[in-house]
Amino acid sequence: MAAGLGWKVILVTLGLFLEIAAEVIKLNITSNWKPEFGWEVICSWEMLPNDTLQSVRLQNNGQQFMIYRPEIHGASRAEIFRTPENVMNVDCTLTAMKGRRGKCVLSIEPYQPPTIDFTYTCEVSGERPKFMIERKDYVVKTLVPPSAAKLEYKAYEEVPPGRVMLNCTSSGLPAPSLQWTVADDKVQADFTGRLWNATSKLWHVWSFLAYTRSERSSTVTCTPEVHSHNELIKGAPAMYSSANAFGIQAIIAVPIVLMLHR
Ligand SMILES: *[C@@H]1O[C@H](CO)[C@@H](O)[C@H](O)[C@H]1NC(C)=O
Ligand SMILES: *[C@@H]1O[C@H](CO)[C@@H](O)[C@H](O)[C@H]1NC(C)=O
Ligand SMILES: *[C@@H]1O[C@H](CO)[C@@H](O)[C@H](O)[C@H]1NC(C)=O
Ligand SMILES: *[C@@H]1O[C@H](CO)[C@@H](O)[C@H](O)[C@H]1NC(C)=O
Repeated sequence: MAAGLGWKVILVTLGLFLEIAAEVIKLNITSNWKPEFGWEVICSWEMLPNDTLQSVRLQNNGQQFMIYRPEIHGASRAEIFRTPENVMNVDCTLTAMKGRRGKCVLSIEPYQPPTIDFTYTCEVSGERPKFMIERKDYVVKTLVPPSAAKLEYKAYEEVPPGRVMLNCTSSGLPAPSLQWTVADDKVQADFTGRLWNATSKLWHVWSFLAYTRSERSSTVTCTPEVHSHNELIKGAPAMYSSANAFGIQAIIAVPIVLMLHR
């Protein structure tokens, strides 16, 4: 009984301590994908009114690559870091007296297809006498969900009759795979291809299917998929229906993105 109570007291004390500690320096990291550019990661902080910013340290996968100290660098510091994979612009600025509020913006533009996730760490330290420290890790996932599938096709009325050539495309990161189904049956593509588009910074993929319509009309569906972090992420599928194949285009893009847990 007494031991149980003792634990409770320790846990409650610990809880209070954590609550107070969490209020000393508020730290946020966010990230977003900017089309045709790359990632923007923002670390922002807010300190107690009586504290002063001593330093901000930035790490990439555990390696410190930049330290910002207002005492040395002044009200802002901007640096450019180049690697064979990407170029990163870092811009740290203060938005309140004594650096009590401020942010570091990391703009990361890939030169090559990104393959791995990055963990960025932001550590903000206060001045004496407390030297408060707050740090946060943030994982930037190499993931841009597949775009809605697009279908191009040519239908031939001559010989052989009912022959349809379908070419399906999508883009994303990592490279999406394109799944074909004909009336709910999975079918293999005849050709597939992909290229990394240095403008969009995404993989552009295509898949070609030559298909002969049967007597009964059926629907051909192309669905972009990507496996990422134990999730199957699908882009909006595109459909071709042989019922209205001749004449106007029979392309229906269903505007949904399905997030399915495996
Ligand atoms: C952190 O994010 C929360 C919620 O989004 C916001 O209310 C708060 O102002 C942010 N703090 C800083 C220091 O940016
Ligand atoms: C700032 O004030 C808080 C109480 O509001 C106090 O706990 C803390 O020690 C002070 N920090 C500094 C650096 O003086
Ligand atoms: C399918 O489209 C892609 C462009 O998205 C093109 O490069 C490829 O040659 C096309 N395939 C066929 C067989 O037409
Ligand atoms: C690359 O992407 C841009 C849009 O970001 C597009 O205009 C261009 O046609 C694409 N190039 C290829 C080869 O797909």
